[in-house]
Amino acid sequence: MRDRLLAAEKVKAIDWQGQALHLLDQRILPFEEQWLAYTTADGVAQAIRDMVVRGAPAIGIAAAYGVVLAARARQAAGGDWVAALEQDFTLLANSRPTAVNLFWALNRMRDRLARCQDRADALQTLEDEAIAIHESDREANLTMAQLGVDAIRRHQGNAQTVLTHCNTGALATGGFGTALGVIRAAWLEGMIEQVYADETRPWLQGSRLTAWELANEGIPVILNVDSAAAHIMKTKGVTWVIVGADRITANGDVANKVGTYQLAVNAMHHGVRFMVVAPSSTIDMELASGDDIPIEERAGSELLEVGGKRVGANVQAFNPVFDVTPADLIDIIVTEKGIVERPDATKMAQLMCRKRLH
Ligand code: MRU
Repeated sequence: MRDRLLAAEKVKAIDWQGQALHLLDQRILPFEEQWLAYTTADGVAQAIRDMVVRGAPAIGIAAAYGVVLAARARQAAGGDWVAALEQDFTLLANSRPTAVNLFWALNRMRDRLARCQDRADALQTLEDEAIAIHESDREANLTMAQLGVDAIRRHQGNAQTVLTHCNTGALATGGFGTALGVIRAAWLEGMIEQVYADETRPWLQGSRLTAWELANEGIPVILNVDSAAAHIMKTKGVTWVIVGADRITANGDVANKVGTYQLAVNAMHHGVRFMVVAPSSTIDMELASGDDIPIEERAGSELLEVGGKRVGANVQAFNPVFDVTPADLIDIIVTEKGIVERPDATKMAQLMCRKRLH
């Protein structure tokens, strides 16, 4: 299946060209396909904050390249550039709080630099590490796609109607996608009859990005408002809800795009299976439970305005952009290290001890 998945890899959103990081501007897709070039860590941090690049794995990859750009500038400025680089790590770390892939990638870059014996090699070492982070995410996507398809086949066979939330495809990752990667692979295997895509208010990652990615590949997708999900589960024969994750804690709780939690509650009520697909870089074993995850709150204007035009009354708006799904509502977590059914602290610890499967 791996070769078929690789052949189906068409869209990419992150392109490292040695001197600059090129990002496909996800704020204006699908209407315009515009690439922006970044040559500073400051620029990359701003791009993450402003959602030019978004999706947990993609944010981590972009930040790793941001460190390379920062190191180059700091080294050229002379002095103790490794110490000065800490300011750039902080700048990048402050761009968005919830997706742990960002901090995972920054820690990996910092550790690699610390292990570099010869300062003359440091820049090349950092660039190699950022490319390795990017490549390993791509590989993880392929493994998860295969494992997810196997899990669906084991439980219910072909002809699936699935519902997904936010965007977890090529645009959100270094490769094929997480949840959308499983859906795309299942489609290639002839197992998907229909995909329902939540529009994902307020940034519309579902209607602008997921629907675009699926339609480009001829995968049958129907768009719905987020609040139609329970009705769709009740009336349209949904067999799986398949979503990604921004942070999974040691007990198996999952932070993902706001609205995921209510999907899980509804899925349990309707007997629909609930799958989370995420690389192990999304798992944060340092946090005991989802209660400890910092949930990003963005400006109320994202709810009160559409396209710069006021649509809401003159009131305060609460705009948390992630929520936490408790582990006991999750049937299966798929990672590149393997799968965990009915996650709990013991099973998560066992998973994290394993090596990657491929
Ligand atoms: O605010 P976003 O668009 O960065 O949120 C993205 C999500 O919540 C995705 O579901 C998650 O990052 C998984 S992406 C593979």
